Amino acid sequence: MLLKSMMAGLAVAVIAAGTATAAECTLPPEAQAGKTVSNLCKSCHVFEADKPSRPTGPNLHDVYGRKAGTRTDFTKYSEGMQGASAAGVVWTDDKISEYVADPKAFLVKVNGKEVKHAMIYQLKDEQKRKDVIAFLKAIKDKPECN
Ligand code: HEC
Repeated sequence: MLLKSMMAGLAVAVIAAGTATAAECTLPPEAQAGKTVSNLCKSCHVFEADKPSRPTGPNLHDVYGRKAGTRTDFTKYSEGMQGASAAGVVWTDDKISEYVADPKAFLVKVNGKEVKHAMIYQLKDEQKRKDVIAFLKAIKDKPECN
């Protein structure tokens, strides 16, 4: 009897866990193209909410609207990014776009001096930047999307 109710409880737990993992990610249309663009970032960044940052770059799942340089599990922020953080830079559309187009130029501007920077990548295509920003905005607070 006890065993039977325990088994029933277990079955309910298994079903509940199953539904949780099966939650589907729905992205607004403008973010769909950005998901493809995000593949360009994956040699260094992860986008899954529950994955730790890799040594190659901070996790970007919650980067939209967050203060620069504040992923606590990423320990290799450059002098320039630490300066941007201290200056209170927050990752809005404009800031992400300017940064990703030319990380060094952005950090030199924000710091007001020559600084070391760490993202050796530039996305020059403005439309792709818009798309990837729409994607970052859409996945924030949606753990099922990455
Ligand atoms: C070659 C590796 C590499 C690639 C490719 C790359 N990044 Fe990065 N990214 C980094 C590193 C390293 C940092 C930390 C920079 C620093 O500390 O100066 C960073 C930082 C960032 C930040 C700031 C994060 C924070 O925590 O404040 C954003 C936003 C960002 N990258 C966006 C992108 C996007 C969008 C793409 C793809 C279009 C991309 N990156 C591609 C290595 C990369």
